Order: sequence, then C-alpha cells, then structure tokens
Amino acid sequence: MFPIVSNELIAPNLHRLVIEAPRIARARQPGQFVIVHANQQAERIPLTIADADATAGTITLFVQAVGYSTCRLVALPTGQVLRDLAGPLGRPTEIKHWGRVACIGGGVGTAVLYPLAKALADIGNQVITIIGGRSAEFIILADELAEFSAELLIATEDGSCGKQGFVTHVLQGLIDDPRSVPQAVYAVGPVPMMKAVSDMTRAHAIKTIVSLNPIMIDGTGMCGGCRVMVGGELKFACVDGPEFDAHQVDFALLADRLTTYRNEECRMLEKLPEKQRPASRKR
Ligand code: NAD
Ligand code: FES
Repeated sequence: MFPIVSNELIAPNLHRLVIEAPRIARARQPGQFVIVHANQQAERIPLTIADADATAGTITLFVQAVGYSTCRLVALPTGQVLRDLAGPLGRPTEIKHWGRVACIGGGVGTAVLYPLAKALADIGNQVITIIGGRSAEFIILADELAEFSAELLIATEDGSCGKQGFVTHVLQGLIDDPRSVPQAVYAVGPVPMMKAVSDMTRAHAIKTIVSLNPIMIDGTGMCGGCRVMVGGELKFACVDGPEFDAHQVDFALLADRLTTYRNEECRMLEKLPEKQRPASRKR
C-alpha cells in the first residue's frame, strides 16, 4: 500500500503527487517510470518518476488530468492509499558527457524532462533548458530547472512568458548560432513537438533522444500495447525504452496508435461527476 503524502495543483489540470514508496525511491534511476493502480477497479496508469527522496522514502509524480482515470487519480486526497505501484520500470536514461546539451520540455513533458536534465547537469554537461507552454500558467518547474541549467529559455504560445512561439523557435536560435549549437538534444512533450525537434536536428546531424509515451498496459513487455517502430524494428517502449533515438522513431505510427481508444476515452469522461472533469483546454 502506498499513501499519498501530498497532492497539489500546480498548473491547469496538472497535479504534483508525492507518494510514500521507499523501495522505489531507493532503486529508481532517471528516466524510469511506475505504473499506478489506485484500486482494484482502476485502470493502470504509467507515470514517470520525476523525482525521489530516498531518505524520506517518497517519489514525485506529475499527473495531467485529461481522462477518466487520471481525473479520478488527482481527485484522491492526501492520506489516501494507492493499492499498487509497480516499478521502477523501463530503462534508465543513458547519461553521457556530451558537452553542451539542449533539454527541451513541452508542457507537461517538462516533468519527464526534469530528472534527465538534472542527471545530465550532475555529471558536468552544460545544460541549456528550453521549456514551453500555451501561456505562463502552463510553464512548470522553471525554478527547479534554473537551479542546475546553464541557461533556462522559455517559450509561450501567447507570449505571456519568455519568447512568443513554440520551443522549436527557441531551439532554432541555438542551432543557428555556432557558439550555442548543442552536441545533443533531449526532447519530451507532445508527439508533434518531438517530431518537429527531430526534423530540425536531423538536418544538422545533432544526436537527439526522445521519451515516448505510447499506451501502456502491463509495463513489463507482455501485452504489446506500447509497441513502437524505431529504425524499422518493433520495440516495446516499456522495456526497450521509453527513450529512443528520435531520428529513428516512426512518429506517424505513434500518433496514430495514441488515438486508438479516443471514442472510449470520451465516453468514460462523461461518466465522471462534473467537479472531477478536466477544465476545458482552449486553443
Ligand atoms: P501542449 O499541447 O500545450 O504543448 C506544449 C508545448 O509544446 C507548446 O507550447 C510548444 O512549445 C510545444 N509544441 C506543441 N506542439 C508543437 C509543434 N507542433 N511543434 C513545435 N512545438 C510544439 O502540451 P501539453 O498539453 O502540456 O501536453 C500534452 C501532451 O504531451 C499530450 O499529447 C501527452 O501525451 C504528451 N506527453 C508526453 C510525454 C512524453 O513522455 N513524451 C509525457 C507527458 C505528456
Ligand atoms: Fe505491455 Fe509494454 S506496456 S508490452
């Protein structure tokens, strides 16, 4: 059993959950995730371990409330106990000394980026962090990332914080200047963002790593739900990833598979009580 130590709304529809899980807190490495099974009837939800405190025996998860199960999870109060947490799962990030690395987080993907960027900085990389969101209220973890980033650059679509535009506009600026061009890029966020980053860096032969978020069920390589094509080969993101060479990923297939249960997801959302439904997301 895994008690919720705190549950805090940090951006629209985005909660930071701290959960007591001492064994996972000790064992986890950057890039790994857990599968949360809140109760016997609940769906299994894969979530990246954004941070861990081995002394306190806690892990930190960021949950974007967008569907039936994530809305039910974030509605749980502090003190509530989760039935099961499987993990740490997935391959840890390969932390290498690249020199200058651009770490790019789109929206809630910034929470997944945080442990990777921190681990890269910890071994002496010069980390240039770029984070983006629709507007200032969607920018998360800026203070935490600034603590170890050589530079923290922000992009918002409405220009309410940092540069106006997408994270890719900021990345273009880095690549265009020979003094700031990165030796490697890590990108985490919506699929169109990761594809756009990948297309930009391929043209300059900059090594690029993305963290993929396909539908997952068991998280242990048994069900095939998380299959992705990488370099023309079938991979299971839960055991072979979740991080892959961006230039080898079939993003069109990933985007297509993510829509597989869209109708069911919409039907399930209607079953939620009004107060648990996500706030509308206007573009
Ligand atoms: P969002 O749609 O608000 O986008 C956040 C930022 O990403 C934008 O402000 C922009 O800077 C960038 N971006 C988006 N589309 C882009 C494009 N076409 N080209 C260049 N940049 C682009 O993101 P959100 O609502 O916070 O996140 C939701 C999405 O993130 C979901 O699709 C979810 O599945 C995905 N996600 C991915 C991971 C992962 O591990 N890859 C983790 C969590 C969430
Ligand atoms: Fe089942 Fe990866 S989630 S094989």
